[in-house]
Amino acid sequence: MIPADQPPPPEAVLFDAYGTLFDVYSVGVLAEQLWPGQGQALAQLWRDKQIDYTRLCSMSQRYRPFWDLTRAGLRFACAKLDLPLAGEAEERLMNQYRQLSAFAENRDVLQALKDRGIRAGILSNGDPGMLAAAIQSAGLADLIDPVLSADVVQRFKTDPAVYQLGPDALGLPAQKILFVSSNGWDAIGATWFGYTSLWINRAQGPLEQLDTQPSRVGRNLREVLDFFPA
Ligand code: LAC
Repeated sequence: MIPADQPPPPEAVLFDAYGTLFDVYSVGVLAEQLWPGQGQALAQLWRDKQIDYTRLCSMSQRYRPFWDLTRAGLRFACAKLDLPLAGEAEERLMNQYRQLSAFAENRDVLQALKDRGIRAGILSNGDPGMLAAAIQSAGLADLIDPVLSADVVQRFKTDPAVYQLGPDALGLPAQKILFVSSNGWDAIGATWFGYTSLWINRAQGPLEQLDTQPSRVGRNLREVLDFFPA
């Protein structure tokens, strides 16, 4: 039973992909093999620059696919850390992005949503090719539908045009969709757009200081299920 003072449960779930379903920092293991002592720094700077470039390109209306910006971010991070990036190392690192580790609890949570008849999809900045490869590699293809990519609107989150893909695809108002992200900025962007939102604060970092709270904050993906009483 849902208490009378609580809103009804959402009717569908959309997950951010990178950092939320797939561990973007798992690339640090290969980076550490290539450049001992620098793997973690490279993984962090690469991710930061990748996201930085999405904002730069989106705001200046110079869209380039997320795959290209991921490569550009890698090149910048290596230049900044003074790490030699030969062609082979670049391809090996980029290929990691096609087969990122999925967080351990993902499959159980997605399966539980399916068992409860809740539609669960992805809404990501990733372009369709790289998303398909990562989903396939993680063995999650049978549990995720729809897969919505920012590529359709040629802008990146947190542009409202990207968040609008969710209501359009699911035929539901944003408030009836639970948007789940481990990226604090994405959880805030989705909240501003009108989604019911869950920020998975895996890194136990501070909330974005923008006077907005996601609907809830959790530690791992299992907390998605708390929105759907059995
Ligand atoms: C995504 C990135 C931003 O999947 O994490 O949209």
